[in-house]
Order: sequence, then structure tokens, then C-alpha cells
Amino acid sequence: MSPHILKTRPKIGIKMLEHMTQMNGAIGIRQGAGQKNAAIGIFHVWYVTFDLARQARMIYSIPMSTIEILNPHQIWERIQQKNNAFQAGYYAFYSSWYGGIVKDPHFLMCPLDDHMVHRGDAVFEAIKTVGRQVFLLDPHIDRLFVSAEKIGLKPRWSKAAIKDIILQTLKAADKSETLIRLFLSRGPGGFTTNPYDPAGTELYIVITELKLLPAMKYQAGVHIGRSEIPVKETWMAQVKSCNYLPNVMMKKEAVDRKLDFTVSFDRDGFLTESSTENIVIVDQEGVITQPELRNILKGTTMTRALDIAKASGKQIAHRNLTEKDLVSAKEVMMIGTTLDVLPVTKYENHIIGDGQVGPVAIWLKSQIEADFKKGVAF
Ligand SMILES: Cc1ncc(COP(=O)(O)O)c(C=O)c1O
Repeated sequence: MSPHILKTRPKIGIKMLEHMTQMNGAIGIRQGAGQKNAAIGIFHVWYVTFDLARQARMIYSIPMSTIEILNPHQIWERIQQKNNAFQAGYYAFYSSWYGGIVKDPHFLMCPLDDHMVHRGDAVFEAIKTVGRQVFLLDPHIDRLFVSAEKIGLKPRWSKAAIKDIILQTLKAADKSETLIRLFLSRGPGGFTTNPYDPAGTELYIVITELKLLPAMKYQAGVHIGRSEIPVKETWMAQVKSCNYLPNVMMKKEAVDRKLDFTVSFDRDGFLTESSTENIVIVDQEGVITQPELRNILKGTTMTRALDIAKASGKQIAHRNLTEKDLVSAKEVMMIGTTLDVLPVTKYENHIIGDGQVGPVAIWLKSQIEADFKKGVAF
């Protein structure tokens, strides 16, 4: 029972009653102080009784009115009334369940009995388009298939077919800068944990607005911290599944602590990754170093960035990194699809390097941006 309601609502009621009493006075109905107190007392008893009954209904989930059984027409009418501002950023949606593309965001729906919804039993990708070109399309599709294979999910489509569906959905969206979200799901049916229950896999592709970080974050660098959320161990970390609760909790802790990101360390004390970003350092010798890919998702952007660096003659390495390596690095950067290469200038209370954005981060970002032009056009 909420003490707040019991304490405050009668006060509001009493205020109303006092106001009404004053008004009655003004129109000539005289009331003595005793009458007024008695009225307030009666109102108080009535209100507390009413409030207890109301809360009992809430506790036992007794609806205040009978719930309607809706027909399809009523459902469609009600769905259309839901005009949430964020829907403006939803450009097109492909659903193999519908067997087509829809542009009306009200139809952005997935069956509740799809194992993706009730068990997180699906794999996904987030891919960026810039200047009407899809960045790193092949590496993303390859990783989708690696993730699917690791969980024994057999897609009903070839890689070429999925690429074709993506490009058609992008054409329908008709926007230059977007984020493609691709979900390959176990499919509807069964409502159990049994992955053999569903009738077959489904594919959902949503094209949305691309939301970028403010330029100031790239100029000043970001502030990161140490995550307390247990890391996903090897196999789970390497599958980009819809089972992202630990990643969600990492984002929550970053937001709650007013940090830009938090990063995890595995049970051996080695640096892993952030909620949906990889982390790379430039060590004291100037070597661009990524953590050993053990309890980490192999990022497509990080892989591409290090390939470019290597091809340009820069020294790169993969090794286990500790918190000490992070604190003593010359440069630290977060790398991922939406943010590209984002410099880190502070870790907890430690300033990274000289506290300024470093030359390697600036160079790598410019290289990735130049790479956008090699994307798949649509
Ligand atoms: C857990 C995790 N790590 C790293 C990344 C970065 O990968 P990418 O560069 O392919 O976006 C992602 C991206 O979604 C992620 O979810």
C-alpha cells in the first residue's frame, strides 16, 4: 500500500472540501466550525475506505472496467492512434512473417510466440549506411551466419538472398544515412525453450534513422569506467544473440554513473569490451593493440580499422590487456558501427595520455570514414 497516496490524497480532498465550504459561505450558506470538522472527518473516512478498495483492486489486478474483446478493425484503429514521436525515425520494415516490406511504422510487429521475443533465441546485426552505401555489408552478414551456426540456427536464406532483401528494403526506405537492424530468429511456435518447436526461422529487417554522437565527444574524448556486470564468457560473447541483458545492464550502469561507457574485465582480469563497442589501446611503444578475442565479440569495425592500420605499415598487436595497460596507454579508443573510432580521454579517475585526443584515434577515424565510399551502393 502506498503511504504516499494515503498521506497526500486526503489532504488534497480536505483542501477541496475547505474550498467548497468557503464557497458555500460566499453564497450565503453558513456553517459552524464543528460542522466543518465533522464534514472533513466524514470525507477522510470515506476517502481512506475508497483508497483502500482502489489499492486492493490494483494489488489483485482487478480491472476497473471489463476488458473488451477486440475485433481486427478496432485493433487497427487503436494501433493507428499510437503516434509516438520515435516512430518518425522508422523508415521501412521487412518481415518474412508478413512476406514483404511495410513503410507504416505501426506495422513494426513480431509475433509474441516467436522465440526471439520470449527467449532471446535469435541472432542479429546492426549495419550502417552512409551516402547511400552499406558499410561492411559482407563482414556483417558473415558474422550473422557465424552466430547462427554457433546456436544451431539454420537460416532459410542464403547470404546472397539476405543481401538482396536488405538492399530492397533500403530502396523502399529511400534514405541515405540509416541504421539497418537485422534479426534472424528461430521463429514462432511452441512457446517453450525447445528450439525444435518453431515451424521455421524468420527474418526481420528494420531500417531506422542513424543517430550519431555529438561532434564534441570526438573533439574532447569520452569518459569511461569499469563495469561491475559479469562478462559473457567465450561462447556467449562470440554469438551476437538477442540475449543482450548483460549488455543492457552495462549501458544502464554507464548512464546511471553519468559515464559515456563502461568496459568489462573477465575473471582473469583481462580487458574485454563495452556494451556494444570494442576497445583498443595504443601502448607506450605506439603499438595499436586490441584485447585477445576470447570473451569478446569480434567487431567488424575494429577488425577493419586494424587491417587498415596494418596495411599502412602501423604496428598492431592482439594480446591480453590489464587495467594497468589501459591506465598507462598513450591512447584509448572505443570502436563500433555507429561511433566509428571514438577517443577516450578518461578512465575512472585516470587521465589517458595527456588528456587530449590522440593522433592515432584521429587518423583511424579518418581512414574508416574514407572506407565508407567502398560500401555497397543501393
Ligand atoms: C558486444 C559488442 N561488441 C562489439 C561490437 C562492435 O561491433 P561492430 O564494429 O561490428 O559494430 C558490438 C556491436 O554491435 C557489440 O554488440
